[in-house]
Amino acid sequence: MVQDNKQKNQTNTPPQRLHTLSILSGKGGVGKSNIAAALSFALADFGKRVVLIDADLGMANLDILCGVNNARYNIAHLIDGSRSLSEILVHFRTSQRATSQNGAVALLPGGVGLKEIADLDDNDMERLFEAMSGLESLSDYLIMDAGAGIHKGVLSFAYASEMTILVTTPEPTSIRDAYGVIKSLGAAAWESVEGVATGLMLVVNMANSSREAAEVADRIRLASMQFLGNAPVYLGYVLKDEALERSVKARKIFYRTNPDSNASICVRNLAGELLRICEGANIKREAVIETQEGTVRSFFRRLAKTLFNDKK
Ligand SMILES: Nc1ncnc2c1ncn2[C@@H]1O[C@H](COP(=O)(O)OP(=O)(O)OP(=O)(O)O)[C@@H](O)[C@H]1O
Ligand SMILES: [Mg+2]
Repeated sequence: MVQDNKQKNQTNTPPQRLHTLSILSGKGGVGKSNIAAALSFALADFGKRVVLIDADLGMANLDILCGVNNARYNIAHLIDGSRSLSEILVHFRTSQRATSQNGAVALLPGGVGLKEIADLDDNDMERLFEAMSGLESLSDYLIMDAGAGIHKGVLSFAYASEMTILVTTPEPTSIRDAYGVIKSLGAAAWESVEGVATGLMLVVNMANSSREAAEVADRIRLASMQFLGNAPVYLGYVLKDEALERSVKARKIFYRTNPDSNASICVRNLAGELLRICEGANIKREAVIETQEGTVRSFFRRLAKTLFNDKK
């Protein structure tokens, strides 16, 4: 009987394939790099092999966020062909939380002051793509921190990836810029490119509560639906968390140093949601303990909302 089930599972399990995910934002400083790093470690804890690519060339900092001191080589060495992929990748040990031994994270560090991907010439591009093709057999998920803004260098990652996470915070400026990204992506936000579904998904970072995050996502989705005829999927949120700020200052991976912090729990929930979308996995959501908003504050927030909505 056990044998039967085992055989059944083996035949039913679809072959593993590589999923590509880029993380971008309209406004800078909204938490893309921290989310990219934490999400990679969370997916590894679920048994996935992840390669995290610092594609925010010129402004790369994932090495610092991952606690790597002085990465010897970076993506520039791949572009000029002076180093191989295996010499450049920085590997991290699996954590004790890991549910499977197979999970792992490797970082492909970026460099400071490098040319953007969009500005590389054909030869550089060819060498880079050739070298990168070695990642195919090494990973289940390629996570790319693509940077901020609506220039070609950022948007091209969204065009090319299977999935794109657009990060925003509840700040009005960040919400406006997130909408700008959706608008700039145009139909590519929902269409498939060469058979690859380029699904656009929203993550609200630095939220004070799940409710605030859902309201932000609703606003963006409504505007997008109304003016662009379609809307990104709301993947989830990450609460504002001092533990994360402290870890950044200490050059530590917050997901590893504070695995039970609110931000880490939120990121694990994001990872679970991604695995559900990509692989049909059924991972239970963890509860986040939110600090209660003061009665006076929540009263005024509701009041402002009613007044504001009534005026429109
Ligand atoms: N959930 C959070 N809670 C508290 N602080 C946060 C959170 N997320 C990000 N931050 C703060 O925001 C800062 C910027 O984060 P991060 O570098 O990840 O942003 P970014 O979008 O990658 O920025 P850039 O556009 O410059 O690449 C962090 O150093 C941290 O202090
Ligand atoms: Mg960044």
